[in-house]
Amino acid sequence: MKHTVLVTGGAGYIGSHTAVELIGAGFDVVIVDNLSNSTLAAVEGVRRITGVEVPFVEADCTDAAAMGEIFGRWNFAAAIHFAAFKAVGESIERPLMYYRNNVGSFIALLEMAVAHGVEGVVFSSSATVYGQPDALPVTELSPRKPATSPYGASKQICEDILRDTVISSDLRGRNAGGGLGYAKKLRGIALRYFNPVGAHRSGLIGELPRGVPGNILPFIAQTAAGIRSELLVFGGDYATPDGTALRDYIDVVDLARAHVVAVQRIIGGGQRSDYEVFNIGTGRPVSVLELVRGFERASGERVPFRIVDRRAGDVEAVWADTSLAASELGWRSECSLDETLSSAWAWQKSASDLPNPS
Ligand code: NAD
Ligand code: WQD
Repeated sequence: MKHTVLVTGGAGYIGSHTAVELIGAGFDVVIVDNLSNSTLAAVEGVRRITGVEVPFVEADCTDAAAMGEIFGRWNFAAAIHFAAFKAVGESIERPLMYYRNNVGSFIALLEMAVAHGVEGVVFSSSATVYGQPDALPVTELSPRKPATSPYGASKQICEDILRDTVISSDLRGRNAGGGLGYAKKLRGIALRYFNPVGAHRSGLIGELPRGVPGNILPFIAQTAAGIRSELLVFGGDYATPDGTALRDYIDVVDLARAHVVAVQRIIGGGQRSDYEVFNIGTGRPVSVLELVRGFERASGERVPFRIVDRRAGDVEAVWADTSLAASELGWRSECSLDETLSSAWAWQKSASDLPNPS
């Protein structure tokens, strides 16, 4: 039997790639997105890549009535919740907007999931929950540090909400018939992404940043394309081999595959506990300068850069210990950094024809 998976935020960067991989793995997919940071072009891209007329509903996940209609229309085995705002700096300026959207949408989704007997929910969390870890690479057991932005706090809060909902649905399940609105036990997986980069190899979907990119890879790509004159490298005096900050850049297609195995694990009943957390990264630290050099190789273009002061709030180094995802999910990143950077360059060249989200 084909299972149907709800993908909220499925018109966005990671959600659209995940929709493609889910369909490839034999799932039916329904995309819900309010297009606040995306366009219909991504949905069309998913349809073209897969040859499937994926259902799309333009709706806001904070809208309980709209979510109720969606859950009434389809019988979801699982949901993946990508829908969120993600700009760290903007979240400091507009905390209520971020909490309302990121936390409010997740609560609305979970209320529907428990009421409709969905098997489980996969949540898009982030390595940002670790802050600057005391030891590297960072494992899932590393403590979460106090969040330095409402965005980061929203990820920690949503992880806790998912954990608590899973625990309570278990209690309710054992007291079935109590009229508490839980159709059955809910399971959950939080995936903590490191730094997602790259694009689908078809060139049909990828990241579409609004305005000046805040994340490094779209900025590098736009600099290589001549749209920006130079990259500002934030900090050259870190205690790292070349003085620039270290991150774990995970290919978006690899990341998308991790969601497929997470959904399969939930539906197949293979979890060790009903709420689980996994790091999703490569396990490989890459410096800003290595990324620049790698992009120059992949694109054949120069990326002029200038080293400036550190960016406020940045951590020096963070990369994943991915052994839990490998042993439990059977998932590991497969793409080389060169391949990922080539895909980002191909996307940069084709994306210039696409409208950006306003
Ligand atoms: P994105 O902005 O491309 O995708 C998010 C999508 O959700 C967008 O299409 C947007 O229109 C939609 N959306 C936002 N609020 C909504 C709402 N209330 N109702 C319906 N749709 C809504 O971002 P992304 O990079 O694909 O990120 C997906 C998820 O992964 C987010 O939760 C993000 O916080 C998380 N994440 C992203 C990164 C990253 O660096 N890209 C890293 C870690 C975690
Ligand atoms: C990477 C490195 C910068 C831009 C952010 C969020 C995090 C997660 C992923 C969602 C850093 C340097 C950057 C530039 C630069 N998102 N840089 N010049 O900061 O690791 O993580 O996105 O969950 O929550 O905080 O990613 O791509 O912004 O930066 O030198 O113009 O590149 O200082 O060392 P970051 P990033």
